Amino acid sequence: MDTSRRRHRVDHGRATDAVGRNPSPGNPISLPAGDAEGEIRGAGRWPLVSDMVRVRVPAKVNLHLRVGARRRDGFHDLVTVYLAVDLFDELIALAADDFAMSIEGEGAGSLPADPNNLAWQAASLLATHAGVPPAARLTIRKGIPVAGGLAGGSADAAAALVACAELWRIGASRSELAAIAAQLGSDVPFALTGGCAVGTGRGELLSPAMTSGEFHLVLAFADHGIATPEAYRILDRMRGDIAPTLDLNGSRIVLDALRRNDVPQLAAALVNDLQRPALSLSPGLQRTLSAGRELGALAAMVSGSGPTCLFLVDSATGATRLAAALAAEGVCRRTRVVKGPVPGARLVR
Ligand code: C5P
Repeated sequence: MDTSRRRHRVDHGRATDAVGRNPSPGNPISLPAGDAEGEIRGAGRWPLVSDMVRVRVPAKVNLHLRVGARRRDGFHDLVTVYLAVDLFDELIALAADDFAMSIEGEGAGSLPADPNNLAWQAASLLATHAGVPPAARLTIRKGIPVAGGLAGGSADAAAALVACAELWRIGASRSELAAIAAQLGSDVPFALTGGCAVGTGRGELLSPAMTSGEFHLVLAFADHGIATPEAYRILDRMRGDIAPTLDLNGSRIVLDALRRNDVPQLAAALVNDLQRPALSLSPGLQRTLSAGRELGALAAMVSGSGPTCLFLVDSATGATRLAAALAAEGVCRRTRVVKGPVPGARLVR
């Protein structure tokens, strides 16, 4: 695993005793595992259990993604069916006198640990909203590949909202957090709720979708990323002046299959308008998709704006078998078995 870490610290020049309580050496403590422990020791503070919050947040896939015309604000209207899967990022928030962020795990070296990071912006927006100082030390442990079409950045923003709301004892309701989430990015509200949902607007307007049982997928990670705006830009270019009209009818077959756990029907109905642009940016993905189909996947598709590919299978055993076979073919960087739906950003006690 890539263990590179990035750290950036900003001193806002104001101490707060609301969140900056210094525990005495005699107090019992519990430290987070792994690198975060070094972070705490390095900072020379020993946190109280109540001064540390841990949040787990899932990746998403789009089982149905129809993209409409480009809007005046630069975003595209869309109709999508989101499914949260059990591939997680973790965010640890520690009480502090200032604000600092560090990132570790997969792809950490390529991510900004500064105000350009969506999780940083999430903490900052929440602090402004609640009228509290933005004082916390955030550590993000990446499990979700960066720029992979799995909404990892949005997941971290959602995790930061949940973690900081708890750390700062804001008492924000889920709907308050959802309103802040929608300001941060199209996929952030879904990362908060998780499960399975239909997304409209630019993806931020959610209505929950019913599912029965679990759905098993294999993810194939690529050795590069695709920037989401680039995928949308290529889509616009490919379409020229033809602006497709969107309706909810297209998602009905997917929603029906999810409700009845009809995996073959779901396989036949998967669709992603961003697949064509993703394939034009990364032609090699065609080989990955074909290999998955030949190896027995019921359906193969690019996830979101790519380059991660997803393969639908009908069982956990089938997923393990396909993941191993795909890895052996050498058509991707790594494979991962996942299932969904799983809940969105949640505190880990
Ligand atoms: O909302 P988010 O910040 O995740 O979007 C990243 C970029 O993806 C946007 O700046 C925009 O270029 C593109 N996008 C879009 N239409 C959407 C969602 C994203 O054009 N519905």
